[in-house]
Amino acid sequence: MKKKRSTFWLVLSMTAALGVWSALPMMQSEAQDRTPKEKPVEKMEDKAPKEKKPAGKTTPAIEETKKKGFDGVDFSYDAFGAPPGQDPQEISQKVKEKDIADKPKVMERQKKRLNDRYQTDCKTASGVVMTKGKPQPIGPAVRLKEGVTWETLGQMTPEEIKEKKLFPAGFHRLLHVKHEVGGMVFPQVQIEQFPRLERFDVDFDLPECFLPEFPPPIFLTTHPELGDVSQGEVLSIENFDRLFRGLVTPVQLDGLRLLVTQLPQEEFNATHDRKSDKPSLGVACLDCHVNFHTTGQFHLNPDTRPQKDRLRIDTVSLRGMFAQQIHGSKRSLRSVEDFTEFEQRTAYFNGDHIRAAKKGMFVFDRMLIPHMAQMQNMIDFPPAPKLDPVGRLDKSKATEQEVRGEALFFGKARCAECHQPPAYTNHNMHDLKLERFGAEGNGPIKTFALRGVKDSPPYLHDGRLPTLEDTVEFFNLVLELKLNQEEKKDLVAFMRAL
Ligand code: HEC
Ligand code: HEC
Repeated sequence: MKKKRSTFWLVLSMTAALGVWSALPMMQSEAQDRTPKEKPVEKMEDKAPKEKKPAGKTTPAIEETKKKGFDGVDFSYDAFGAPPGQDPQEISQKVKEKDIADKPKVMERQKKRLNDRYQTDCKTASGVVMTKGKPQPIGPAVRLKEGVTWETLGQMTPEEIKEKKLFPAGFHRLLHVKHEVGGMVFPQVQIEQFPRLERFDVDFDLPECFLPEFPPPIFLTTHPELGDVSQGEVLSIENFDRLFRGLVTPVQLDGLRLLVTQLPQEEFNATHDRKSDKPSLGVACLDCHVNFHTTGQFHLNPDTRPQKDRLRIDTVSLRGMFAQQIHGSKRSLRSVEDFTEFEQRTAYFNGDHIRAAKKGMFVFDRMLIPHMAQMQNMIDFPPAPKLDPVGRLDKSKATEQEVRGEALFFGKARCAECHQPPAYTNHNMHDLKLERFGAEGNGPIKTFALRGVKDSPPYLHDGRLPTLEDTVEFFNLVLELKLNQEEKKDLVAFMRAL
């Protein structure tokens, strides 16, 4: 009896699995969508006969029929904001034309904002590099008000800074390039390789030197001896099988397949209401978390309303997920499984499940989510050869400056009260109370892990701090530490060794 039962369940679950599989080929068949520009794919239009009617035009009878629904409330049309009697496709077309016309102004506005906040001359130093060799940006890049130095500012109380309005512009919230609209924005270097990630209304805003290396290296917890397993490629639906089969388990490989599968999202989808020129199958998890890391892709958080108060969020690295107990800057979800499920179902659509249903909600079966989570949990931090097994400096390998920095980090500078080894987080959220300085407060935010932090500028949830030097100046004020110049340099040196 028992045996019979389990056979029944086996057959049932295999049938379920097949059902899910059969839903996916449509997505995978669009692998060509990911093909780099230099290899143009043959388009359907190219094959069409010459006498074809102009694209986008249909017969008058068809147009008449489509408009019949517009004299009352038609919920299939109204969802994206078309008032009764109006053609939603036409509205979207007008929005698109306006978006394109406005784009230069929008980009100019953001350029000015960034210019008020940062020096963008992008200093570097020889030998100060990320894991694969890209120079780390050296700061501070945040600008100070006329006549102020970091030393004088560091001696002031929060009240004084607030009163004299001296809190640097770059320490205030960083706005989305088009905050009133928001949505996912991808850096230029990635769009060059994957043109499907381009939006017609906005471009990426931060300079390339403030971003992580592209593509980032990948380290597996299961194969520390192999080092970077990316082979310098960007993991995608086209190469994941070639790159990872044999290195990971079948379950993990299937998780990876799903992590590189495009899924509908607010700006990138197949409806008329989108921000990509062509209809799109959507965005893959690893489009933002490139090679399980990040290259500065950003979005607005789904957790806050009204729109104006939503926080810009800089994509976090998925390295070291296994060592972290809470996920998301505000949501504090308790498992990678939950985050995986909700990221796609709600964050992709700004926390609005109704729009998700209209634009192509894809509900992952609970059987598949652990596959995706398990794959994410196999990704290690980059090597830190100067750390011992506990995550502290090995004194025989570290420089004197790094050792001094470590002592400050665990002592006078109080960093370790929140950033604890080995991952350098306390799995908690803290309110840094920036309103004390006359800035907008952010409320409690996750204490981000600092292992491998040299590889993931820009810093803080919104990426407002371009360099590690800026983070030290920031916390010097926030925690009222009164560090001197040498101590600040020591702290940065220690963080570069993590
Ligand atoms: C905009 C591009 C973007 C896409 C696409 C994306 N993410 Fe994220 N991801 C982010 C950002 C930004 C955060 C930080 C969220 C926050 O601060 O609340 C994040 C956070 C996470 C975290 C939590 C990290 C932590 O410990 O705090 C996980 C896990 C995660 N994403 C997995 C996924 C999965 C799985 C997918 C695909 C279903 C995905 N992401 C798609 C941008 C993206
Ligand atoms: C009260 C807890 C607390 C203390 C003490 C603290 N931090 Fe943090 N740290 C945080 C929180 C919370 C964030 C995220 C803040 C945000 O994104 O708005 C953060 C973010 C950071 C980041 C950015 C990480 C990233 O990937 O974006 C760096 C770097 C950092 N802290 C360094 C330090 C240093 C250096 C010190 C000591 C001088 C320090 N922190 C002290 C809580 C703390």
